[in-house]
Amino acid sequence: MTAGRAFGRMVGAAWILVRNDALLPRELDALYPPSISTLAKTLRLFAGRGARSGRPGERLARSLEGMGPVAIKLGQLLSTRGDFFGREFAEDLSRLKDRLPPFATAEARAEVERALGRSVESLYAEFGEPIAAASLAQAHEAKMLDGRKVAVKVLRPGIERRVAEDAEGLTLAARLIDRWIPPARRLEPRAFAETVIRATVLELDLRLEAAGADELREVMANDGYMTAPQIVWEGVGKRVLTMEWARGWPLSDADALIQPGLDRKAMADNLIRAFLAQALDHGVFHADLHEGNLFAAAPAQLTAVDFGIIGRIGAPERRYLAEILWGFLERDYERVARVHFDAGYVPRHHSVTAFAQALRAVGEPVFGRAATEVPMSRVLMQLFEITALYEMRLRPELVLLQKTMMTVEGVARRIFPHHDIWGAADPVVRRWMARELSPAARIKRFAEEAATALRNIARLVEDPPARVAVEVGGVNRERSPLLWFAVGALASGAAFLAALYLR
Ligand SMILES: Nc1ncnc2c1ncn2[C@@H]1O[C@H](COP(=O)(O)OP(=O)(O)O)[C@@H](O)[C@H]1O
Ligand SMILES: [Mg+2]
Repeated sequence: MTAGRAFGRMVGAAWILVRNDALLPRELDALYPPSISTLAKTLRLFAGRGARSGRPGERLARSLEGMGPVAIKLGQLLSTRGDFFGREFAEDLSRLKDRLPPFATAEARAEVERALGRSVESLYAEFGEPIAAASLAQAHEAKMLDGRKVAVKVLRPGIERRVAEDAEGLTLAARLIDRWIPPARRLEPRAFAETVIRATVLELDLRLEAAGADELREVMANDGYMTAPQIVWEGVGKRVLTMEWARGWPLSDADALIQPGLDRKAMADNLIRAFLAQALDHGVFHADLHEGNLFAAAPAQLTAVDFGIIGRIGAPERRYLAEILWGFLERDYERVARVHFDAGYVPRHHSVTAFAQALRAVGEPVFGRAATEVPMSRVLMQLFEITALYEMRLRPELVLLQKTMMTVEGVARRIFPHHDIWGAADPVVRRWMARELSPAARIKRFAEEAATALRNIARLVEDPPARVAVEVGGVNRERSPLLWFAVGALASGAAFLAALYLR
């Protein structure tokens, strides 16, 4: 694509933002330097009716909604940066809707045939009208030849080109922002634009979504707090995804919560536990658990659909999270503080006890009031705010987790109004602590770490740095001083680890 087209896209997007007063919003007037302030006032002469109502986050969400998939992904990712834009702005932005008029069923059928290389009739007994349409894809109701009811997700025709064009516009905008608006550099606009584009492009391959759904289905099956529809692999291609129809009603549907035989408390418990068990026990979680993606069936069964966004957290972060939740459940702030230092999140020159005091400020209000009033996501958010004072660098996965937790808690409270989130979480966190911190688990982890250390040392001996290699020589390697050094290091390392784990 030519630079001219990218420029055109960018200007078009900027115009929509200006019309909604979402580019340089009036609420921030006090912060602009004089030159920008003049520009902002000039641009506001062009503002339309959309500029009059709503907070800046709402106006930005409204502007982005119509701009296409890259803009929508941009909004979704910006809404995870409450640390940068403030909490209210992030929350307003996170209500951005991804809904568009559907494309024709005939076009969808043609896409399916192209993608799977076979006729629609050879796979489906019925292929119905669209039930929901978004910027990248739409979903149809269908029936397999064997009678199973399924949902078929089909990418919009020509969507790849559209995404490529918008991506160029966004890349250009990010370059200009980086060059001309120094305060925005803290957000790393170019890297951010790349993240947005990459996230959108990954959603353009429905085979990846099928794989994500399949993986999470397995994970969920471990404890049954939640299920996911079975993927129908013969109906999966880059542009098509077929899965079994989810049981029950979407929670976004008013009928969902008036089904006979529903146990609303058990359902809310299931939701919280499902989310925490995915994240803590398996390090992978459904990161888009809003009401439209959750199906409810009596008495308390939840089925999740839409696996476009999956969060992953590594073993150290899982441990960190479990210990934090545990620390708050047990009101052991010293412990939570130590976890931050041990994980290397807080630089050593800070005081553990002063940090523990700050944590108490987050934790005590939770237990002073009914636990139902204090969302876990808010505690995590405040924790992240405090840790910022202690130069803690947050891993983006934890931010995604906190944001998903906020959604999940909102849904849980709408299922069962006075839901006790901390009480629901307790068994999952307790189970994790019992398993991971049992003597057997410590010894196992110690053995694994010792084995890794041994392998690293062996590699060093096998393939020593060049200068040492000369000294060590070829045949004498086994009796070389380096080896004795390695053995000594290993032994003291092992003793140290043992002391650490078995204390
Ligand atoms: N397996 C399914 N069973 C029943 N309905 C489904 C299923 N998958 C999707 N849907 C319906 O289609 C809608 C859109 O599908 P989804 O995967 O959420 O796409 P999007 O990424 O556009 O949100 C869902 O909100 C849900 O109502
Ligand atoms: Mg969805």
